[in-house]
Amino acid sequence: MKILATGTAGMLGSSLVPALVAAGHDVVPTDINLADRHPWGPFGPELGHLDVRDRHAVREVFESVRPDFVAHLAAETSLEVSDANPAHAYLTNTTATKLIAQQCGRRGIPIVYISTAGVFDGTKTGAYTEFDEPNPINTYGDSKWRGEVEVAQFAPQHYIVRAGWMVGGGAAKDHKFVSRILDQVRAGRTTLHAVGDKLGTPTYTTDFAACLLNLIDSEVYGLYHMACEGEGTRYDVAAEILSVLGRDDIDLVEVTSEFFAEEFPSMRPYSEIMINQALDLQGMNLMRPWREALAHYLSHEFADLLAPAASLAM
Ligand SMILES: NC(=O)c1ccc[n+]([C@@H]2O[C@H](COP(=O)([O-])OP(=O)(O)OC[C@H]3O[C@@H](n4cnc5c(N)ncnc54)[C@H](OP(=O)(O)O)[C@@H]3O)[C@@H](O)[C@H]2O)c1
Repeated sequence: MKILATGTAGMLGSSLVPALVAAGHDVVPTDINLADRHPWGPFGPELGHLDVRDRHAVREVFESVRPDFVAHLAAETSLEVSDANPAHAYLTNTTATKLIAQQCGRRGIPIVYISTAGVFDGTKTGAYTEFDEPNPINTYGDSKWRGEVEVAQFAPQHYIVRAGWMVGGGAAKDHKFVSRILDQVRAGRTTLHAVGDKLGTPTYTTDFAACLLNLIDSEVYGLYHMACEGEGTRYDVAAEILSVLGRDDIDLVEVTSEFFAEEFPSMRPYSEIMINQALDLQGMNLMRPWREALAHYLSHEFADLLAPAASLAM
């Protein structure tokens, strides 16, 4: 298939584009950020420019590319930027998603829209399923949830796929929790802090890409959760990182969200734990346990940070 993909210069795009190419698809990757036009190496596709907020540019790219399928990844993913500038978040995550979905709907093109566990308010005891009602508590979650509504309304052939805490992108692209911990390790810090009062489900982009490819092949459209198996706090994830790296010389201190309130003032749900019930029910859940996925990620992308003994054990 000829696949038009948006927002591919980020963490998920770094895994999804090569997976689509390896599966034999003709991928046209785009992003607003063209700092590196060949993020997938000299033999990968070249990154083209598309600002999904620009309705003229969106229409033109559908005209020129004539895709058979659209993967819509582009988003403002910072909770703090979204809360500080809601107009920007709604334009990027909701209105632009409507533009993409309307083009797909009019032309009969299937779309996959990547959403988030952040559409839930986090008060549920137990894991969220696709049958739970969204009730976002911050601008990012609300703008993504409204993006889901636009996709469902305007693009009948859709996959809305919610990811948990994204893990991936390697040294060049990772800008979320795992890279924050690794940056501190690299900087030689001997004490790290991580919050123990927020629960979630890490989601490894490599596994997500493989599972998504399988889902797309199925042509069973609808709403899906796609997170690694299991759950944990940010503290648990940090502890696992240090364990995989073999760094028992680093002290990890469990703190509450209050500790980081100045740096991360946005409200975050208490629980973003998801299970992939829709995939499970249809025998399409290929996501690994998060600890296994995290170990794979660290050993493949950050081998230089593994202590010698840990590296021998891999
Ligand atoms: N990161 C997570 O923890 C997480 C969790 C659940 C779901 N998701 C969803 O997964 C998808 C992929 O996210 P990711 O983790 O790969 O995030 P990412 O690394 O932030 O990538 C998003 C990409 O979209 C680009 N972008 C922003 N505004 C754009 C615009 N107007 N037009 C075109 N491109 C634009 C960004 O460019 P700039 O870097 O220049 O802004 C970035 O390259 C998003 O839809 C996100 O909402 C992410």
